Amino acid sequence: MSEPLLRIDGLTVQFGGLTALSDVSFTVARGAVHGLIGPNGAGKTTAFNLISGMIAQTSGTVSLDCDKLDGLPTWERTRRGMARTFQNIRMFREMTVLENVMAGAHLRTPEGIGAILLRTASFRAAERRAVERAREILAFVGLADQERRAGGDLPYGDQRLLEIARALASEPKLLMLDEPAAGMNPSETAELLELIAKLRQRGLTLLLVEHDMHFVMKLCDRITVLNFGAKIAEGAPREIRADPTVIEAYLGAKVARGLEQRA
Ligand SMILES: Nc1ncnc2c1ncn2[C@@H]1O[C@H](COP(=O)(O)OP(=O)(O)OP(=O)(O)O)[C@@H](O)[C@H]1O
Ligand SMILES: [Mg+2]
Repeated sequence: MSEPLLRIDGLTVQFGGLTALSDVSFTVARGAVHGLIGPNGAGKTTAFNLISGMIAQTSGTVSLDCDKLDGLPTWERTRRGMARTFQNIRMFREMTVLENVMAGAHLRTPEGIGAILLRTASFRAAERRAVERAREILAFVGLADQERRAGGDLPYGDQRLLEIARALASEPKLLMLDEPAAGMNPSETAELLELIAKLRQRGLTLLLVEHDMHFVMKLCDRITVLNFGAKIAEGAPREIRADPTVIEAYLGAKVARGLEQRA
């Protein structure tokens, strides 16, 4: 069996007196869609913040491709192949859609500041390639005809897609999505589901935080469940929706029955 792409080992973080994450371990297999679910305040976004290096853990380790990432800054983790989106959309609202995607790619362009200031031929060529690549990504997520609009003027569902496009521009191996379907209507959610399935087909590995359980159960190969900062269950979707601990802590009996019937 090949090594998992992401390995989380004994991850713990304390905020003052609150243990937001307590000794959490799990692995994400290459090419998998792995769900991270649990009630509000369970520690899902905190886990994303730790994995992406936005905050530092109290103890435990995060490894990508067998390399420990502890202590590395966010940009270095991006360079090594992880990208994320945010529960509360973050973008440059005044910049165009195309510029927003290019801002994601610029995190990885190899040109030094000298080349950028002098606008050398190699810099201009790199810039042209970046525009082409950004357009390909926008076409892939279905925003090709929106590239000149200001990011902040897009409808909400499209802003969520733009965030995914920006994350893809850094060409990650691991894409972490924090509630991508939040605030989407049913047809937008259905399109998002297709998009994530396409990303998986292309070999991307995904870590998905989401409260829409039909969405999660349909997409995920494996699911880790958090409650009050601790891991309470892990398994395939059919195991998770039938797990009494998960039903008690999060799903509730009615939702669990609904998921079972639609499966
Ligand atoms: N920077 C911080 N400082 C202090 N407390 C924090 C910080 N970030 C998160 N918390 C607390 O940690 C706990 C976990 O929060 P987190 O945002 O990770 O939950 P979540 O599982 O993402 O919930 P939701 O489904 O509502 O997004 C909460 O009690 C939250 O208030
Ligand atoms: Mg959250």
